[in-house]
This record gives sequence, C-alpha cells and structure tokens, in this order.
Amino acid sequence: MPAVQLNDHVYWVGAVDADVREFHGYQVPYGTTYNAYLVLGEKIALIDSVKAPFTKVMMENIAQVIDPAKIDYIVSNHVEPDHSGALAAAVAAAPNAPVITTANGKKGLSVYYSPDWNYQVVKTGDTLSLGNYTLQFVATPMVHWPDNMVTYLQEDGILFSNDAFGQHQATVSRFADEVGAKTSLERARDYYANIVMPFGTQVNAALKALGGLTLNTIAPSHGVIWRTPDVISALLAKYADWANNRVRDDLAVIVFDTMWGSTEMLAHRLKDEFEAQGVEVRLIDLRENHISRAMDALLEAKYICVGSPTLNRSVMPSVAAFLCYLKGLAPKGRIGQAFGSHGWSGEATGYIEQMLTEAKFELREKLVCVYRP
Ligand code: FEO
Repeated sequence: MPAVQLNDHVYWVGAVDADVREFHGYQVPYGTTYNAYLVLGEKIALIDSVKAPFTKVMMENIAQVIDPAKIDYIVSNHVEPDHSGALAAAVAAAPNAPVITTANGKKGLSVYYSPDWNYQVVKTGDTLSLGNYTLQFVATPMVHWPDNMVTYLQEDGILFSNDAFGQHQATVSRFADEVGAKTSLERARDYYANIVMPFGTQVNAALKALGGLTLNTIAPSHGVIWRTPDVISALLAKYADWANNRVRDDLAVIVFDTMWGSTEMLAHRLKDEFEAQGVEVRLIDLRENHISRAMDALLEAKYICVGSPTLNRSVMPSVAAFLCYLKGLAPKGRIGQAFGSHGWSGEATGYIEQMLTEAKFELREKLVCVYRP
C-alpha cells in the first residue's frame, strides 16, 4: 500500500500485513498493520518502522515522499520487533540521523541491532525541533514494554502513540472514520484485552501524562488512525474504563470445553440462571473459539465462569491454555466460578479454582456433577 498523507507534511509510510494470524499467542483474524510515519519539517523525522519482512515496503513508501537519505531523525518509540524491524534499513539510508529513544529503548535496540548507532536518549518532557515543527516525547513504560514512549507533534496535535490505541486490523483505509468507528473501537477493545490489560496502572499514568495535550489525531502503530473528535473522546473514555477495571455487573462470561456434552450442559444451565437474574451472558465454547476471543468477551464482565471436564486428572488442554493466558493478562476485581463434569477422580474444578485464586479472583461455590448433570 502506498504512502498516505495525514496532512501536507505528515505521511503514513508503514505496511499492511493482511496474512498474519498470530501475535505472541494472540490470534488476530483480521491481520494487522505496522505504522511508520514521516514528519516533513525543515528537518525530517521518521517515527517508528515496521516488522522486518516489510522493510522493503516501508523504504519504498518513504522513497515515494522523500529521498530516505534526507531523514534527519529516526524516532523509535518501542523496541519490539514489529516496530523496530526495519530501523536498520533506515539507519543505513540515513547514517547521520540520530536514533531518538528512551534509555530503555537504547538498551533494547543495542541488543537487538547495534550498540553503535548514534543514539539520542530522551525522557518525558523533552522536545526535538524540526525547525517549523516540534516533537515532544512522553515516556509510557509498560505500554507495552519498559522502553515505550509516545511522540507528540505539537503544532498539529498529532499523537504518535505506538502500541497504545492500536488495533490489529489490516484495512485498505488508514483512518477509523473510513473503516467505521464502531468496528475500529471493537478492534481496539480486543487489542486492549489481549495486549494491554495487565498494565492498567501504567495506562492510567500515561493518560495522566497526556492529559494536558490537545489530541486532534491519534496515530498508533497498529491499525487505523483516529481523527474524529467524538471517536477520540470515546476511545480515551474506554481506555480509562479498561485501565480502571470498570466492569459491568450485568455481564457474565462462561468459558468452557466439554468431552461428552455434560460440562456444556452445565454451561447452559449457568447461562439460564444468569439470564433469569437479568445478567447478559457471553458463552465461549473453546472448541470453536480461540482463547483471545474469550479475553475480548470478558474485558468488561464482572462474572467469569470456567468449565472443564476432568481429563487425565486435570483440565482439557484448551482450558489450561485459557487459564494460563487469563492469569497472565490479570483482569482485576472479578468474581469466578469453576464448573465441570467428571467420572471418578474429578480434579478439573479444583485446578480451575486454584488458577482463579492465583489470578486473584473472588470465588463462588463450584458447580460439579458426576457423568451427567
Ligand atoms: Fe506492537 Fe509491543 O509491539
């Protein structure tokens, strides 16, 4: 996909990856994009890069706009290779351009690529003049690695937010208002649930740090660019809700696998009971849904029930994977319940309770049956 203008001096020069389906355990059925940006001031800055296999795409996109040798600064907001994979090509094309990054960014890039690049370390509040434009940096550690920062183009109110406010969706259009705000907000929710959820405290700190800035445009490093004021407001409000674990007490998620249908029967019985009390239920059958979809479903849910029959004195492998993933993503303030059928030894529900306890869930009494409910 060719370079796309955000305005007369800011360009998207990234890459669309329609084929990717997996992101460190997170299933991404709609692909993704790796967004890099050019800011053309009296000095020229490249902000972030793309995953290594798309290096040629990024360099060709840059070359559509300017001679890459004219890049004066290379800003690296984040070390993770989906954003740094093509930095070496940019450094090779513009060897005199300093690589602007945080202290942790320098550490990470030095190990991944080279300790010999011309690093210029920045921290929150530092600015970089491009002559007629100014870039301002805000460190956002753990959103989503220790090295993260965001870059703010003061004169335009454009926030290059890197992972924050991203979505995994490969689209022809580069803007949320073209793709559809509703769809893009849903993809942002899925992304938050599967990537950002453990870091609510750090998201709150980042939101506070960004609080004084006018955000006309949010240009993340995945997915579409947000530029509509009401949608940006909605996105920021959602991030605040998610970071503060504001969950719906009228929403339950029931995640299960089943062997001969008995645990599935229990799942449906629980669903009926919740619904009888006015609680909306999302049923996630792990035979048909990846664990990533369960995380999206439960991001805003107060009640999470997990069911498995006993298999080989433990749980079904799909349920074990879900519990491990859930514990790592660490949703807070939830009420959990284990359920499941067994024939004789019946270890599954105890295992589920142990995992939910370790995930700091408040437990309700488990629901079990022998062979058939
Ligand atoms: Fe999109 Fe943390 O990398």
